[in-house]
Amino acid sequence: MRKKVTVVGAGNVGASCALRLADQGLADVVVVDVLEGIPQGKALDILQAGPVTGLDVQITGSNDYEPTANSDIVVLTAGFPRKPGMSRDDLLWANYDVVKSTVEKAVKHSPNSILIVVTNPLDAMCHVAYRVSGFPKNRVIGMAGILDTARFRTFVAQKLDVSIRDVMAFVLGGHGDTMVPLVRYTSVAGIPLTDLLDAETIQSLVKRTRDGGAEIVKYLKSGSAYFAPSAAAVEMVDSILNDRKRVLPCSAFLEGEYGIHNLFVGVPVKLGAGGIEKIFEAKLTEEESAALQKSAAAVKELVKVMACKLDQPAAAA
Ligand code: LAC
Repeated sequence: MRKKVTVVGAGNVGASCALRLADQGLADVVVVDVLEGIPQGKALDILQAGPVTGLDVQITGSNDYEPTANSDIVVLTAGFPRKPGMSRDDLLWANYDVVKSTVEKAVKHSPNSILIVVTNPLDAMCHVAYRVSGFPKNRVIGMAGILDTARFRTFVAQKLDVSIRDVMAFVLGGHGDTMVPLVRYTSVAGIPLTDLLDAETIQSLVKRTRDGGAEIVKYLKSGSAYFAPSAAAVEMVDSILNDRKRVLPCSAFLEGEYGIHNLFVGVPVKLGAGGIEKIFEAKLTEEESAALQKSAAAVKELVKVMACKLDQPAAAA
């Protein structure tokens, strides 16, 4: 039987995820959105590309969750995007409600699924999905590090005029202004980046990576990036459904790794059929560790302000 993936949210990120999943023939896809007609219309449009692309997966659009039953993976993209000048954190309360209600419905129909969270503020929304679903920590994963790393790799490749394939990069931390692109672990075909570019140039690429999402929001004016974010989410789906055991930077629930407790933060993880199968701990310098702790502290602040809602008993929530 073909695998099944639900994409919650038929906006730009959700629809792009559905299209990429279909184009790669990875799974049957159900797209869910509250807006009447939008998921149905977009799903039908993607389905009708099948005869051209030659991929005959099923794509269904729906306003309710019945058709999503027994999904292997649920990708959560629903939520409000940033407007120019907003930080991802400014979306906290609006998207808290969206993530809470969509996770409740999705996990009711797919209790054994793996949740991939894309909605911002990413690490905080992972926390909501984790608490609301009651899933074990290996089955709640945030998409951010792959996107942030891809941005860093893009900028390095552009600067050196080399193929992106040969640029390996490593970004740790929360998906926010305090993310930590690790220069020491960034290389071009194994050659340390620091041998190839001067410190000032590297710092400008680090800054552009940190501001990578905002740069696009500024251009688009309404809405945020979706092509690269959807590519990143689908890479995670591929690694899980095909049990590839790729080592990818994702937001994971840490219980002491990197000295961080009970918080979702971006770290390198092994993604396979069981979701997060391992968290890798890289050795960090004092300076890198301090930057990671600062980034984790920013995530913790958001989790703290949500605690009043999250800690309410379910009946009163
Ligand atoms: C970005 C949004 C998706 O980084 O967080 O573009």
